Amino acid sequence: MNYFWFQLWREWKLSIAEILAIFPDSEILFSGSSVLILWNILKEDISTNFSKIGWTIKVFELELQPDLEAVYEKILEYSKGSEWKFKYSLNLFWSKNLKLENILKNTKKIFKSKNISARYFNKDDWKNLSSGQIIWNNVLKKWFDFNLVDLWWIFYFWKTIQVQDIDSYSKRDFSKNRDMQVGMLPPKLCQIMINIWRKNIFKNIENLNIYDPFVGLATVLIEALNMGILWVFWSDLNEKMVDESRKNISDFISKNLLKNISFKIEKLNAKFINESEILQKEKIDLIVTEWYLWEIMTKKNISLDRINKQKESLLSIYSKFFENLAKVDFSWKIVICFPFWELNGKFIYFNEILEILNKFCVIENIFKNSEINLSSKSGSLLYKREKQLVWREIFKLKIKKI
Ligand SMILES: C[S@@+](CC[C@H](N)C(=O)[O-])C[C@H]1O[C@@H](n2cnc3c(N)ncnc32)[C@H](O)[C@@H]1O
Repeated sequence: MNYFWFQLWREWKLSIAEILAIFPDSEILFSGSSVLILWNILKEDISTNFSKIGWTIKVFELELQPDLEAVYEKILEYSKGSEWKFKYSLNLFWSKNLKLENILKNTKKIFKSKNISARYFNKDDWKNLSSGQIIWNNVLKKWFDFNLVDLWWIFYFWKTIQVQDIDSYSKRDFSKNRDMQVGMLPPKLCQIMINIWRKNIFKNIENLNIYDPFVGLATVLIEALNMGILWVFWSDLNEKMVDESRKNISDFISKNLLKNISFKIEKLNAKFINESEILQKEKIDLIVTEWYLWEIMTKKNISLDRINKQKESLLSIYSKFFENLAKVDFSWKIVICFPFWELNGKFIYFNEILEILNKFCVIENIFKNSEINLSSKSGSLLYKREKQLVWREIFKLKIKKI
């Protein structure tokens, strides 16, 4: 039986939701706020599709070792055949008794005693390597990132199979035509939003059709294309955003030499989504979107009055959007974000939107796996960013037929 350790991102509930959606047949051995341990998944599935997973820092397999000596032996084994100076990093998890510093120093001694030239990447602060350090030092391409899990003197050890390429996100983000007035969804969040509706992401992702009716800079669709989706559709009320999104998507397609992409764009007020030619003529599987006020709120200017005004204008669009969507004869699947706010240390949720959602949609359980349910009472998951006052609440919906 193979166990896999998934190291989770800060927003660990979203991270777990995504992993479980991607590996629907997996079984949970352990879940916590920084780690999810699964079994009943194939290593090949993890390796070949890791770039489609938005929110896992790294994955390694867990191999039981009889004692610490066996762990050192393993590291020595990996160094065999290395023509150059052998380089590695080592990370220690959960240990109450061991110190990473001592283990690293021991490995150094062992290599020295065997006359093997070796060096570890961990710096003097004796911390586990971050995903950035692993990528920037090219550890996985040329060398090894080792992980030791110490569960009360039961040792598990394995090298990292995959680590998140954080540079690729910023590259995609900064190559875009940007308009700082338009609030953008974080690319990783877009990936998660796409993933949480998919039953098995690895099967036929290219046939999934995605539509974003508040496209803005097209962040959702660029992530969709990057995940291998071939059919993307979008609309926006603003002519300028229609043009900018077209440019961003065309640039992405040509820079990445993507082939067989089908897309259609429309200038449309999403209040009248039922008039969308895209919805009428194309087979859309999934709507992934966010219409979000780009008004920036700071500690100085945030107030209940401003929040209520934001709510009002969001409601004026969304009430029509959902009502008209329900008129189109199809049970649409949607993943969508709504804002919530922090005012004087208290959270103000957009409870008014729930009334609309309950009228026109079924709020789906984000966690299909019956073993675990981490969603909020209203069925959402939250996404917060430090130092901000306006955050996101994510819902997975199915439009009711009315
Ligand atoms: C904040 S942006 C979306 C950003 C996008 N999610 C991204 O990450 O690139 C919101 C977009 O909704 C568009 N919009 C506003 N009201 C609309 C409406 N009634 N119908 C369609 N689009 C609308 C705006 O023009 C803007 O481009």
